[in-house]
Amino acid sequence: MEVKTSLLDNMIGVGDMVLLEPLSEDSFLENLKNRFDHNEIYTYIGSVVISMNPYRSLPIYTPDKVEEYRNRNFYELSPHVYALADEAYRSLRDQDKDQCILITGESGAGKTEASKLVMSYVAAVCGKGQEVNKVKEQLLQSNPVLEAFGNAKTVRNDNSSRFGKYMDIEFDFKGDPLGGVVSNYLLEKSRVVKQPRGERNFHIFYQLLSGASDDTLKKLKLDRDFSKYNYLSLDSAAVSGLDDAANFRTVRNAMQIVGFMTDEVQSVLELVAAVLKLGNIEFKPESRCNGMDESRVKDKNDLKEMCELLGIEQAVLERAFSYRTVEAKMEKVSTTLNVSQAYYARDALAKNLYSRLFSWLVTRINESIRAGTKARHKVMGVLDIYGFEIFEDNSFEQFIINYCNEKLQQIFIELTLREEQEEYVREGIEWTNIEYFNNAVICDLIENNQNGILAMLDEECLRPGTVTDETFLDKLNTVCAEHQHFESRLSKNSKFLNDHSLPHTCFRIQHYAGKVLYRAEGFVDKNNDLLYRDLSQAMYKANHSLIKQLFPEGSPSKVNLKRPPTAGFQFKASVGTLMRNLQTKNPNYIRCVKPNDKKAAHIFTESLVRHQVHYLGLMENVRVRRAGYAFRQPYEPCLERYKMLCKKTWPHWRGPAREGVEVLMEDLQVPAEEFSYGRSKIFIRNPRTLFFLEERRRQCLQDLATLIQKIYRGWKCRSHFLLLKKSQIVVAAWYRRYAQQKKYQKIKSATTVVQSYTRGWQARKLLRELKYQKRCEEAVTTIAAYWHGTQVRREYRKFFRANAGKKIYDFTIQRIMQKYFLGLKSNMPSMSPTDKNWPDRPYLFLDGVHTELRRIFHHWRCKKYRSQFTEEKKAVYEEKLEASELFKDKKALYPSSVSQPFKGDYLEISKNPKYQKLNSSVDEKVLLADVVNKINRANGKGSARLFLLTKKSVVLADHKTGQIKASVPLPELASVSVSSQTDGFFALKLKEGSASAVKGDFLLSSEHLIEIITKLHRIGAKAADREQLNLDISDEFLVQFKQDKVCVKFIQGSPKNGNSASCKRKNNRLLEVSVPTSP
Ligand SMILES: Nc1ncnc2c1ncn2[C@@H]1O[C@H](COP(=O)(O)OP(=O)(O)OP(=O)(O)O)[C@@H](O)[C@H]1O
Ligand SMILES: [Mg+2]
Repeated sequence: MEVKTSLLDNMIGVGDMVLLEPLSEDSFLENLKNRFDHNEIYTYIGSVVISMNPYRSLPIYTPDKVEEYRNRNFYELSPHVYALADEAYRSLRDQDKDQCILITGESGAGKTEASKLVMSYVAAVCGKGQEVNKVKEQLLQSNPVLEAFGNAKTVRNDNSSRFGKYMDIEFDFKGDPLGGVVSNYLLEKSRVVKQPRGERNFHIFYQLLSGASDDTLKKLKLDRDFSKYNYLSLDSAAVSGLDDAANFRTVRNAMQIVGFMTDEVQSVLELVAAVLKLGNIEFKPESRCNGMDESRVKDKNDLKEMCELLGIEQAVLERAFSYRTVEAKMEKVSTTLNVSQAYYARDALAKNLYSRLFSWLVTRINESIRAGTKARHKVMGVLDIYGFEIFEDNSFEQFIINYCNEKLQQIFIELTLREEQEEYVREGIEWTNIEYFNNAVICDLIENNQNGILAMLDEECLRPGTVTDETFLDKLNTVCAEHQHFESRLSKNSKFLNDHSLPHTCFRIQHYAGKVLYRAEGFVDKNNDLLYRDLSQAMYKANHSLIKQLFPEGSPSKVNLKRPPTAGFQFKASVGTLMRNLQTKNPNYIRCVKPNDKKAAHIFTESLVRHQVHYLGLMENVRVRRAGYAFRQPYEPCLERYKMLCKKTWPHWRGPAREGVEVLMEDLQVPAEEFSYGRSKIFIRNPRTLFFLEERRRQCLQDLATLIQKIYRGWKCRSHFLLLKKSQIVVAAWYRRYAQQKKYQKIKSATTVVQSYTRGWQARKLLRELKYQKRCEEAVTTIAAYWHGTQVRREYRKFFRANAGKKIYDFTIQRIMQKYFLGLKSNMPSMSPTDKNWPDRPYLFLDGVHTELRRIFHHWRCKKYRSQFTEEKKAVYEEKLEASELFKDKKALYPSSVSQPFKGDYLEISKNPKYQKLNSSVDEKVLLADVVNKINRANGKGSARLFLLTKKSVVLADHKTGQIKASVPLPELASVSVSSQTDGFFALKLKEGSASAVKGDFLLSSEHLIEIITKLHRIGAKAADREQLNLDISDEFLVQFKQDKVCVKFIQGSPKNGNSASCKRKNNRLLEVSVPTSP
């Protein structure tokens, strides 16, 4: 919902001076001060905006503010220059009314800033697009250019505009800017040659010297040092807060954006440089033969450089500074110039050069920003011109300026009253005559073509004969003496004869804003604004495109004996054009006021502001505005604002707004003469009535606020209470549920316990009953059995004989045996001979039978097992059997050999090609082939040998080469000695005297000792045809090594070298074999 606000809301002091009550100058100032102290720098007088210069940046020009004021009614928000700009722009765009914004005020009051704010606001709210943005940018960038050439530091303002500016911005039907036209008024050209104390020349001079590159300065023949130039005042050359160098860059950039060509910029800078050079030209007197003094240029260097810059022939210019040619009818008379005349001519040239350059800049800017289309367009003019000036010493310039302000005031009165009247007619309100001061009479005093002051001045200037300021004043005294607004000591008006505040050389005019005393001195000269023709001709001859354009009157083809129009005449004409222009437009006023002379924030100097309020005619403004009705407002917002004051209109009025307002006013008993009903607005005559309504509204708002507060608080508390209540119910529900759950769980577990106890008790009871029942049944069965047995025994007893007992015994034994055999049959162990299982015997008396049956069964299954053997397997088992007979319980190595298969040929001698030769050299079939260690008697170490056993001999061969080392025929083998321990040592003892015994016995060791000895035992016996080969198992035996017998002794040792036995030579006759104890 849109929030409806009003100017009347949150007002500090009174936002619109029209509403000031009581209206007096004091209350007016008090209100301004009050608002200024609260940073409210804008105040309205109806639709006029008073702007106080804050001298500091306030946060009221942000893009947010632009948005805030955009499309809002003028009185809707607190006063602001944006409100005025928005109103003007919208009525231009929507109602097709051309607008003008007239900004006036004294120097430093903020006119130029206000004009920039208006332009930037319009630029922000109007249409966008590439072309439109370019136009906007060019319009905005024309400001820095004009400010650089037309502004200067003065004692009142560091950036004072020294010219009046009027800019027409042109828009198309959509409200998009198309272009613009700038007009300039009355550049203060005297500043070029002389500046008052504490002031500077135009900014561009300082900007050029500070900001241009060394190269540019060299081209322009300039030096960076300000002190080298006579035209530049030195006491305030540097201004704090003003960066001339940076501003120079800004200006060049702005010129580029506006559309200046590079050579144009260069030409402009050359002219600026020429002005500086001109100031340095000095003259000296030179006596002539006729006794007159003639001027001569003192140091020609600056003249030369200037001429070079502008392409002027030095001699021509030099002559122009020394002679003056006066043309009268057909005659040409040349007179010499003395030094002071030469200086006058030099300064006149500098002033003209600069002011014409400035006018050319304006024309050139206009060429760039001119609207491209000829189609009809709407126009918004912004006028930034000096306000009324009242100094201690007022001269021609102040006179001209004040004349302009009189004209503006006239337009203001005319347009305001016209607008007022139009509104009354539009609204159907009866027109009451408004009393106000019409300043047309003062304008007439100044501009009247017959006897106006300007006409008198022109007449004096054009008159032949001696013309001085005194003759001009005399003329005024005679012509204007009767005028009620003209005052002079020498006039025939006896009123002022004794007025000592009015010097004899001055005249006084009663302007609408106050009396101003003008000193007549200089009026004629300034009005004449003479530039000697020789100088303009010299300039025209220059070989410089721009300078030629600036002095067209120097052209020989335009030799004109008529004097050029005077400054006063020109100004009057341009003011006339301006006024005609403004009259066709809807005016909007910004009146700028300066709060203090110190350019400082927060200071409000009352006397200064009073002075400005006075001469800006602000009180007059308020009076004109209040002459009819002080306040007016459309019915809808009026009803909206005050409807709470009447029960019939509050809170809603269903009928038309006007009727609502009528009911309201009637109800409030406002006297009928205090207001009138227009067609769409109510008109309130007196601010008192409005304040009465406002006061009632304020009270009512307080009551309403209390009511709203009450209802809101009630609603808030109730909502809070309802929320609490709802929450309490939720909490309670959850708690109850939780409590019930707990309770239920407790009951449930208690029930389960009780239930289990009950069930247990019932079950135990049932069990007891069942047990009792079973016992009863068993008892019955037992009793019945006993009883039955007794019965049967009693029955059978009569059949028993004397040997019945033996028969029963035999029968029983038979039955038992039968049961025993059947049981044995079903529990027979497996057929494996190694299976040790045998069922238990059932009766003790069967012990012998049972053991015998087990033995028989074992023999039987062994026989069965043997009967399956092949011949080879049989031989193996026979060997195994023999090994068992030989070693079981005799040698500790034996048990470990039982599981080893007796492979015989471990070397695979017939297949292995390595042993092919060995194999072929052995005649018989090799029964056993293995690697054994032959123990060396010298150190007890073993060396590997191949051990072959055939049916006839034992062969030892070299392990690597397979070369036979020894071959012992089996019949020559006497016995074999082994130890009783786990070692693999064995000694082959040879028969004494046999062929093999020469080399001595062999002490060998093998991993397959049991197999070797068993095989040797079997084959050796057969080969030697003897019963058996002697096997000696003993831990100490003798071995015959060649001649010596060495004892080999086996001892139990610790398992140092793993599990293998080690042999050591103890002495010549003893080899000790240490056998690790088996774990
Ligand atoms: N609205 C504003 N906010 C902040 N500072 C301001 C404002 N208006 C003016 N000023 C300050 O005051 C100085 C003078 O303002 P400005 O140049 O607009 O005065 P002027 O009325 O144009 O004077 P002149 O007649 O000498 O040209 C500005 O340079 C600026 O520092
Ligand atoms: Mg200004």
